[in-house]
Amino acid sequence: MKYSPVFKCFVAGVAICAAVLSSAADKKLKIGFAQTGAESAWRTANSDSMKAEAEKRGIDLKFSDGQGKQENQIRAVRSFITQRVDAIVLAPLVETGWDNVLREAKRAKIPVIITDRTIQTTDESLFVCFIGSDFFEEGRMAADWLGKATGGKGRIVELQGTPGSAPANDRRKAFAEGIAKFPELKIIDSQSGDFRRAGGKEVMEAFLKKHGKNIDIVYAHNDDMALGAIQAIEAAGLKPGTDIKIVSIDAIKEGVQAVADGKINCVVECNPLFGPKVYDTIEAILAGKEVPKKAFNKDELFDKTNAAAALPKRQY
Ligand code: AHR
Repeated sequence: MKYSPVFKCFVAGVAICAAVLSSAADKKLKIGFAQTGAESAWRTANSDSMKAEAEKRGIDLKFSDGQGKQENQIRAVRSFITQRVDAIVLAPLVETGWDNVLREAKRAKIPVIITDRTIQTTDESLFVCFIGSDFFEEGRMAADWLGKATGGKGRIVELQGTPGSAPANDRRKAFAEGIAKFPELKIIDSQSGDFRRAGGKEVMEAFLKKHGKNIDIVYAHNDDMALGAIQAIEAAGLKPGTDIKIVSIDAIKEGVQAVADGKINCVVECNPLFGPKVYDTIEAILAGKEVPKKAFNKDELFDKTNAAAALPKRQY
């Protein structure tokens, strides 16, 4: 389905076509953004990118913080439909349970752009496109790096992200597949820290209590949980990065700094600064142009070979 003003002309009739076209040209775009919450530094950087770029382009952005609850995000999308926004951006907390509200947006002829996290649906026409990182690739990169850096040996504890979310599901699956190539790399425990620093610290404390010195590696689904785990490891009198190796995902400034300091061994990037790409895509959709169904951001990897040099240029 195309969402251009030209499309609306056919619906509304030729008499008001010229008026629609001229007002569309100078109308301020009204966009609703249903964000998951503010669980991590990554999330804050993503919200800031969306807000700053909207301001730069003179877009009227209706921002809603879902506070980690899917029902809040569904309510926000419904309110955007009522407000007759030009487009809806949804960063879905979890993968499932979106079809009904997306159907309502489609019925209202409001294009929906899914960002950051993918959804599971039987009807891909319910959203126009997806923009974000390839979480599966990130998990694979973390596993490959670890396999090489450890000589394929070690007992791993995993700090998972939010249960049911695409990054937790994909990073978990890809990592497990990646380390399967190394029979002596084993996940001995795995729990959710909900992508939060306090969650990572709490779960790591429990892992240390349960497994004592039998932990060689932490695989954290994000930097915030890795940084929380570092606090727990240091409190237990151990040296993060040396006694226990740490691999995580995001590459927030603090994460890359921890790599430069030797406390984290490797971070895989997950770039949150895609506000400009989202608005370029929305403008293209509203101009009636075709856009790719899935556009993945390119992510890098930082370890002791490149972290310090990369720090001055990190933007989040
Ligand atoms: O969906 C992206 C993930 O969500 C980031 O890795 C994490 O930090 C955030 O909370």
